[in-house]
Amino acid sequence: MESAEIRRRWLSFFEERGHTVVPSASLIADDPTLLLVPAGMVPFKPYFLGETKPPAPRITSVQKCVRTPDIEEVGKTTRHGTFFQMCGNFSFGDYFKEGAIKLAWELLTGSVADGGYGLDPERLWITVYQEDDEAERIWRDVIGVPAERIQRLGMGPNFWSMGVPGPCGPCSEINYDRGPEFGEEGGPAVNDERYVEIWNLVFMQYERGAGEGKEDFPILGDLPSKNIDTGLGLERLAMILQGVRNMYETDTLRVVMDKATELTGVRYGAAHGTDVSLRVVADHIRTSVMLIGDGVTPGNEGRGYVLRRIMRRAIRNMRLMGAGGPVVAELADVVITTMGEQYPELVTDRKRIEAVALAEEARFLKTLNAGTNVLDTAITETRSGGGRVLAGEKAFLLHDTWGFPIDLTLEIAAEQGLSVDEDGFRRLMKEQREKAKADARAKKTGHADLSAYREVADTAGATEFTGYLSTEGESTVVGLLVDGVPSPAASEGDEIEIVLDRTPFYAEGGGQLADQGRIRLHSGAVIEVRDVQQPVPGVSVHKGSVQVGEVTVGASAYAAIDVKRRRAIARAHSATHLTHQALRDALGPTAAQAGSENSPGRFRFDFGSPAAVPGSVLTDVEQRINEVLSGELEVQAEVMSLEDAKKQGAIAEFGEKYGERVRVVTIGDFSKELCGGTHVGNTAQLGLVKLLGESSIGSGVRRIEALVGADAYNFLAREHTVVAQLQELVKGRPEELPEKISGMLAKLKDAEKEIERFRAEKVLQAAAGLAAGAQDVRGVALVTGQVADGVSADDLRKLVLDVRGRIPGDRPAVVALFTVANGRPLTVIATNEAARERGLKAGDLVRTAAKTLGGGGGGKPDVAQGGGQNPDAVGEAVTAVERLVAGAS
Ligand code: ALA
Repeated sequence: MESAEIRRRWLSFFEERGHTVVPSASLIADDPTLLLVPAGMVPFKPYFLGETKPPAPRITSVQKCVRTPDIEEVGKTTRHGTFFQMCGNFSFGDYFKEGAIKLAWELLTGSVADGGYGLDPERLWITVYQEDDEAERIWRDVIGVPAERIQRLGMGPNFWSMGVPGPCGPCSEINYDRGPEFGEEGGPAVNDERYVEIWNLVFMQYERGAGEGKEDFPILGDLPSKNIDTGLGLERLAMILQGVRNMYETDTLRVVMDKATELTGVRYGAAHGTDVSLRVVADHIRTSVMLIGDGVTPGNEGRGYVLRRIMRRAIRNMRLMGAGGPVVAELADVVITTMGEQYPELVTDRKRIEAVALAEEARFLKTLNAGTNVLDTAITETRSGGGRVLAGEKAFLLHDTWGFPIDLTLEIAAEQGLSVDEDGFRRLMKEQREKAKADARAKKTGHADLSAYREVADTAGATEFTGYLSTEGESTVVGLLVDGVPSPAASEGDEIEIVLDRTPFYAEGGGQLADQGRIRLHSGAVIEVRDVQQPVPGVSVHKGSVQVGEVTVGASAYAAIDVKRRRAIARAHSATHLTHQALRDALGPTAAQAGSENSPGRFRFDFGSPAAVPGSVLTDVEQRINEVLSGELEVQAEVMSLEDAKKQGAIAEFGEKYGERVRVVTIGDFSKELCGGTHVGNTAQLGLVKLLGESSIGSGVRRIEALVGADAYNFLAREHTVVAQLQELVKGRPEELPEKISGMLAKLKDAEKEIERFRAEKVLQAAAGLAAGAQDVRGVALVTGQVADGVSADDLRKLVLDVRGRIPGDRPAVVALFTVANGRPLTVIATNEAARERGLKAGDLVRTAAKTLGGGGGGKPDVAQGGGQNPDAVGEAVTAVERLVAGAS
C-alpha cells in the first residue's frame, strides 16, 4: 500500500467516525518551548491544557514532524528518520481509553477491502504502563488480545509527555512482530527491532512540571478533562505494508536513494558504509525540503542550524560516495515531486525551495574547500605533538572563521582517530553568543517563564483588541504583574505588566512594533506604556511604569495610545505591503516575505532571493511603489475564511499559522495580504517611500530598509543639502558631480603617488651622508638612527643596502635604520661579510631591536626586517643595537 493511500485511509476512517480533519500545521512550532514540531499533538497543546476551547471534540490529522536527537542513528537502524509523518486521532474530553483502543484495533486489523490496513492480529503485541490495570483489562477482555502478548513497562517507554512542562499521561503502544529473521522472540520489552512500535495511544490526563528526562518530573495535577492523543508513524506502517526491511526503502524515500545512486554510481546493497550514506542522504534531503518548504532558512542558530546541519550532512555523505559537484537540486527535485502529492505547496514553491537549497550547497562547498585544509593542518599538528584530542579553540576557530560546523569537525576528526574538546568549544561558543545576546536581552524581557502569564491569562481571558477602529477607550484592569510575579496591586515607581479586558494598544506581532501610550485609572493613577507583547497567544501584556498613584486589579481604566507613533507605524506597514507586491512583480514569487519590522516612519523587509537585487531593479521597484501610492488607493481590511482568502489570491506569510478565519488587507487592486496589523486608510497618506538599499542577511535572504512619509522627506532633504554644498564646492550641476569628483579623486591619487616618489628619492639621497657619518664602534662601522617618518619598508630596505654598499668591503659594517610609518616603528638592518665574520648577524640584531619596539621580526644574517607597536621606543632600540655591536666587536 502506497504512503499516500495509508494517509487517505487514516483520514477517512476517522472522519467517518466523527473526527474533524485538520491539515498539518507548519513544522515551525507556534510554541516557545519547541524549535520544530516533534509530534502530532503539538498544535493542540492549548486544547489539552484547557487554555483554548477546541473547535471540535474529535480531531484527526497527519502532521509533519521533525525530530533530531537521534540524528546519528539515521541510516544505521531500520526506523529512525529525522522527518516523519504522524497520523493522529485526538479526543478532548470525549472518548477515552476504551474508545481509543477500539478505534485503533478496528483500523489496524480491519480488512483492506473495508478501508482498514489488514494487519494480522496475531502479529500485534501491546505494551501498557506498569500501573495501568484498566488499559490491560480493555486489551485483554474487550479486544481479546491474549495476556501473553500484553506487556507492562515503566515510565520511560510508557508514560508520554513532550519532554517539557505540559500535558502528559500513561500510554499504550501497539507493536508489530516482523518475524524471526529480525531477531529473538520475547515481545517489544525484549527486542524493538523485531517488534516495531507503530502506534502510540496516550491517555492524556495530567499536567507535568519541569524535570529531567522521561521519568523525573513532578505531576502538577489533572488536566481539565481526560483526553486522547495518538500517534501512528506513517513511515513505519508503510515499511510493514510494503514488505520492506527499513523505512528508507519505502516508496517516498526509495526514489531519493535511487537518485543518489544515479548521481554517485554507488549501488545500494553493495557495502554497509555506502548503504548508510544513501539512507542518510534520502532522509536528510527530504527533511531539508520539508523545512525549507515551511520557511526555515539555513543559519547558525535554532531551526536554521538544524536545517544547515541536516543539509550539510547529506551533502557530505554524497561527497563520501564520490559526488563532486552540486547535487542538491536534483535530489530535492525528486522529493518535491514525490511529497508534492501530499503537500502541493511544495510544487508551487519548487523554485524558492531549490534556490535556498542551492545557495546553501554552494556556500557549504566553499566552506568545505577552505575549512578542510585548515582542519587537516590542525589534525596533523595535534597528531605530531602526540595528542589525541583536537583543541576546543581550533574547533571554534574553524566554526567562527571558516563556518565549519562542529559536527563536521567531530566527524572528520573521528575518521582520523582523534576526539575533539567539545566542552572547550561549547564554552567559547557560549561566550560569543552571550555577548551578542546581551544587547537583545536588554531590550525585551524574555518570556522564558510563561507560567506567570498563563496564571494571569487563566483569570483574565483573551484581550479584546479595539485598536483597528479606535485609539482610546474605557477598559478594566484584569491582570497585573510586578517584577514578573502576579500581584493584586502596584504603586508609584513600580515597573509593571498590566492586562486589560479590552485595549486599543497593538501588541507587537506580524512584524509590527507595539503601540506606546498611557493608561489612566479612574483613581488618578497613570501608567506610561512602553511595550506591548503577547507572551500567551491572545493576551496582551502592557509593559510600563506607574507614574503616579496606585494600580489595582479590577480598577476601571482609560487607555490611550500615542496616535502619532501609531500613524507613523501604520504608514510603514502599508508601505511594506506595497514593497512586497512590487518586489514580487519584479522578481517573481520567490521574493516571498521572510520577515519584516514596521516601526515609526521606517521599515525593513526581508525576502528570499538567491542573489543580490541589482540597483536598477530596486530603483524600478521604488518608482513603482511611489506611483502606486500616489494613485490614492483605498486600504481595506476584511475578515473571511482562509479558503476564501486563498481563492482571492491573498499572499500569506510563510511559516505563519493561521486560524480558520483570517484578516485580509487589500490595497486597491494592487495588493492583497493576510495581515493582522494596522494600516493607513488611503495610500496617499504615505506621502513618499524611499528605499535606502538592499543587503544580505545570510542564507539566501535579502533585506531592504526604507523610510516613509516625513522620515523619507527629511532624508531626501538632507541629501539635497549635501548635494547643494558639493555643487558649491565643485562648481558643477548635480548630474556632473560623480564625474567631476571621480576625476578629482584620480588626480589626488596621482599627486599622492608623485609625493611618495619624491619622498623616496629624498630618503635615498640621504645614503651618502649616512655612510659618511658612520661611527666607529670598536672597529665596526655602525650607521644607525631614525630616518623621516612614513618611509615604506621597501624604501627603507633600499636605503639600508645602499648605505652598506658605500662602506668599503674590508671594513666590518652594520647599518640599522628605523622609521615610523602609520604610527608603527619599523626597522631594516644589514651587515656585510666582514661584520658577519665577527658574529654580527642581521637576523639577531633585528630580533633584539624589534623586541625593544614591542614586536618581532627576523630574516637572513645579511639583511633582516622587523617592526613593533611602540614608536616611542625607537631610541631605546637604537641603543640596544649599539650595545650588541659593541659587545661583539
Ligand atoms: N504524542 C504521542 C507521540 O508522539 C502520540 O508518541
